[in-house]
Amino acid sequence: MELEIHGRVNPATRILLLIIILASPSLFLLGDCSPAIQGCNSVESRLVPGLSRARPRVFSIADFGGVSDGITLNTKAFQKAIDHIGSFGKLGGATLYIPRGKWLTGCFNLTSHMTLFLEQDATILASEDPQDWPVVDPLPSYGRGRELPGKRYTSLLHGLRITDVAITGNNGTIDGQGLIWWNRFRSKTLQHTRGSLVEFMFSSNILVHNVTLINSPFWTLHPVYTSDVMIKGVTILAPHKAPNTDGVDPDSSSNVCIRDTYISNGDDAVAVKSGWDEYGLAFNRPSHDVFLVNLTVSGSHGISLGSEMSGGIYNVHAYGVSISGAVQGIHIKTSAGRGAYIRNASFASFEILDTGVAFSFTGIYGDHPDAGYNASAFATIENISFRDVVGMRVNRAGDFRGVPQSPFRHTCFTDVALELNGKSNHWNCSYIEGYSRHVSPPPCPELQLESECWS
Ligand SMILES: *[C@@H]1O[C@H](CO)[C@@H](O)[C@H](O)[C@H]1NC(C)=O
Ligand SMILES: *[C@@H]1O[C@H](CO)[C@@H](O)[C@H](O)[C@H]1NC(C)=O
Ligand SMILES: *[C@@H]1O[C@H](CO)[C@@H](O)[C@H](O)[C@H]1NC(C)=O
Ligand SMILES: *[C@@H]1O[C@H](CO)[C@@H](O)[C@H](O)[C@H]1NC(C)=O
Ligand SMILES: *[C@@H]1O[C@H](CO)[C@@H](O)[C@H](O)[C@H]1NC(C)=O
Ligand SMILES: *[C@@H]1O[C@H](CO)[C@@H](O)[C@H](O)[C@H]1NC(C)=O
Ligand SMILES: *[C@@H]1O[C@H](CO)[C@@H](O)[C@H](O)[C@H]1NC(C)=O
Ligand SMILES: *[C@@H]1O[C@H](CO)[C@@H](O)[C@H](O)[C@H]1NC(C)=O
Repeated sequence: MELEIHGRVNPATRILLLIIILASPSLFLLGDCSPAIQGCNSVESRLVPGLSRARPRVFSIADFGGVSDGITLNTKAFQKAIDHIGSFGKLGGATLYIPRGKWLTGCFNLTSHMTLFLEQDATILASEDPQDWPVVDPLPSYGRGRELPGKRYTSLLHGLRITDVAITGNNGTIDGQGLIWWNRFRSKTLQHTRGSLVEFMFSSNILVHNVTLINSPFWTLHPVYTSDVMIKGVTILAPHKAPNTDGVDPDSSSNVCIRDTYISNGDDAVAVKSGWDEYGLAFNRPSHDVFLVNLTVSGSHGISLGSEMSGGIYNVHAYGVSISGAVQGIHIKTSAGRGAYIRNASFASFEILDTGVAFSFTGIYGDHPDAGYNASAFATIENISFRDVVGMRVNRAGDFRGVPQSPFRHTCFTDVALELNGKSNHWNCSYIEGYSRHVSPPPCPELQLESECWS
């Protein structure tokens, strides 16, 4: 079996990789048997069969009075079309076909048993008028809007308690036209927390495939309290300086696979979350069984777990990720007040290029919903493993800032080769313990305990 590192690999990286391969017979056991690939296969096999098949009926948005001039507002046409599609649920559902053209719209709700099919060169264009973005209650696990107290704008495409829904087609685009929202954020003139581009709440059996999601006002794709989600062959783009434009945020969600996806954005490419401080602890819904396979990530904050993780996070497995131009490669973030845990996460076959810190853990992230958080509620962070990681032009290998009340435990590094920009400060370790084998540059003594790594 051949090792696959996706994205561009330069010759020097190849040599490092070869060294890793020769040093590591275990590598050949990976690939198809990696828990990330197995997990993605299992998510895909659990999806209802209708999702990847054609629906028995197809309606065009044009049949409901939609106009593709990029100027006419189509919110009513979308809602009418989707209400109509809602009546075919028991008959296998229906497809809403979006022909090429620019379809301007305010926020609308999706329904169960539907496929939103975007033709090539079709764009669903978000209205820039906040009046077209209804305000809704905050998420129960956050207790308030993520960026401002109180309510929040809903998402452009919204799904509440729905199942068997696909957003797919011939790589059409959903464009959030986020600039006005980023500017409102920067000038502190937002009235409520910004909306996501696509959000599913309390939903299941979701497929997002072969679409391009751009310029989200806030987080791009947000499955929350949702299970059985397949995100595959998606392109997510936003300017590198666009604030909080996370790529995919699986939040208190389970059985989520994100694969074969390209993300170039302004914040975390993927951030697995599960609620915020006392609200997340009370809601108590973890994110688990989240699998990442073959991702290319550029100019962002890399792959994150947290910082909102108060419902707990477990079984997150990633395989074959190329990260470049990021602030952090892999970032685990928590804070006093979060409580809960992050455990059993693995990151294998990673390439980290032109990045600030390859591995960054913090237990002092801060950022609380209000003064009601429990300052003695610390998170348990354990059993996080890294295997087969190659880094080039990285400023720092590891930066681990734990807290004495809850040190990072049982962290494993196997077959990691990083070429650093500077000659000092390779690893900065406080309140972390773990194991390492074939790691260069050699990590701090705290990460050199004598023991077998859990795998
Ligand atoms: C950790 O993840 C692996 C791979 O999916 C799984 O086999 C194992 O059961 C998990 N461990 C726990 C304690 O959940
Ligand atoms: C969309 O769903 C929300 C609930 O999430 C509801 O409050 C709103 O009225 C729905 N909008 C339409 C147009 O049906
Ligand atoms: C994805 O979209 C591209 C561009 O239109 C198209 O050529 C391709 O067939 C689509 N792939 C799938 C699996 O539908
Ligand atoms: C979809 O469009 C994006 C943006 O134009 C492009 O980068 C990507 O390669 C396309 N994907 C497919 C499958 O055509
Ligand atoms: C990895 O994902 C890219 C899209 O980002 C796709 O073009 C490529 O075929 C995928 N590789 C594999 C091995 O599936
Ligand atoms: C705060 O968290 C600590 C540690 O989990 C717990 O023992 C204590 O009961 C909590 N206090 C409250 C008021 O919930
Ligand atoms: C290392 O981390 C500690 C806190 O954990 C911090 O005070 C210190 O400045 C860091 N050292 C460097 C060189 O960044
Ligand atoms: C963490 O790893 C240790 C050592 O292999 C194992 O005993 C323990 O069950 C693991 N815990 C979890 C929660 O996966």
